[in-house]
Amino acid sequence: MTTADVPEPVTPPGTADDTNIFVRMTGGGDPERHIVLGEGARPTPGRGNVVIRVEAAGVSYAEVQMLGRLHPFPPAFPFVPGYDLVGRVVETGPGVTDRRVGERVAAMPRHGAWARYLETPARTLVTVPEELDAAAAVALITNGVTAWQMLHRLARVRPGDTVLVHGAGGGVGSLLTQLAVHHGLRVLGTASPAKHDAVRALGAEPFDYRTPGLRDVVRKRAPEGVRAVFDHVGGRGLDDSWAMLASGGTLVSYDSSVAGYEPGQWFRPHVPALRRTVRHWVARRLGLTRGRRMSMYYVKPGERFGADLATLFRLAAEGVLRPEIAARHPLDGAAAAVRALLEGRTVGKHVLLP
Ligand SMILES: NC(=O)c1ccc[n+]([C@@H]2O[C@H](COP(=O)([O-])OP(=O)(O)OC[C@H]3O[C@@H](n4cnc5c(N)ncnc54)[C@H](OP(=O)(O)O)[C@@H]3O)[C@@H](O)[C@H]2O)c1
Repeated sequence: MTTADVPEPVTPPGTADDTNIFVRMTGGGDPERHIVLGEGARPTPGRGNVVIRVEAAGVSYAEVQMLGRLHPFPPAFPFVPGYDLVGRVVETGPGVTDRRVGERVAAMPRHGAWARYLETPARTLVTVPEELDAAAAVALITNGVTAWQMLHRLARVRPGDTVLVHGAGGGVGSLLTQLAVHHGLRVLGTASPAKHDAVRALGAEPFDYRTPGLRDVVRKRAPEGVRAVFDHVGGRGLDDSWAMLASGGTLVSYDSSVAGYEPGQWFRPHVPALRRTVRHWVARRLGLTRGRRMSMYYVKPGERFGADLATLFRLAAEGVLRPEIAARHPLDGAAAAVRALLEGRTVGKHVLLP
């Protein structure tokens, strides 16, 4: 490597290069009590790994669920949260041949991203275009790939179709709405009334998810039913979502965030979705569903993840996708960011800038 390849200094002025600052989640409960700052040594990369200087890390609903002991796959407390990040490679470990110091990359380690430095496997990284804002890019990682894959890999949609997006003002929902509108779909989007203007601005037709007789309201707007429903709420509402489908339509269930469960009951909210998925699968095999089907979705890293994220970065660079940023926080603002998500007060993605 020549000196011309060496990136701009990646350490903020006045901070020691070998110091790592991070956020830890120490237990379940209030964010103000259990989300705290910590300090340690900068990690050194093991075989196949790189160390990244984090530019931006996402705050996601997963952390809200981990704090409420309602996430299905949480690390043991205490741990450093942070599902996804954008940053620059500052060191490569033995055996890393395809990544260089200075490259701008994205990753979805699922935890560990709320830190100045993070060690992660090189093979999972995706290149981030220099022109993209770090916060906008981070908003596209977990949420964007989730939206893209549900729309283009699971639901069989064609331009002109009508789809229903629950929570169209949320992180995933707002990206899903933009992608669907870009694909030529008509989007019915549920949201609380305070977010209707924002949802309308994305190109969707908003209505309140608390409206009584939701399935009839949708039937009135789409008498043949909708081609796909994207549902992150789960519970009994899945029956409404299923009933809204047109023949051949797809219900995508991508979480069960329905309220009313106690900390630790992480599996119970998912039981209604699992039951219905199996029941509809059997009914479909017997030819009883008019071609309708139900799928459960969970985002995971891999080849498709990398390819789809690269597509999303391109769409954002072209101005097709505009990820909404709710707020940018320093690392010590992590508890406030989680509190804002917990209370559903904001539109868009909360991002930490370590
Ligand atoms: N399966 C996966 O791989 C995957 C990946 C990413 C995210 N997720 C899940 O996706 C969900 C959304 O994540 P996010 O980051 O977009 O969260 P978010 O920004 O907090 O958005 C959640 C949205 O849900 C809406 N909502 C609340 N109650 C609702 C109801 N009863 N019916 C319909 N909508 C309702 C909220 O609308 P108002 O604010 O207007 O009330 C809000 O816009 C979370 O459950 C998350 O865990 C799953």
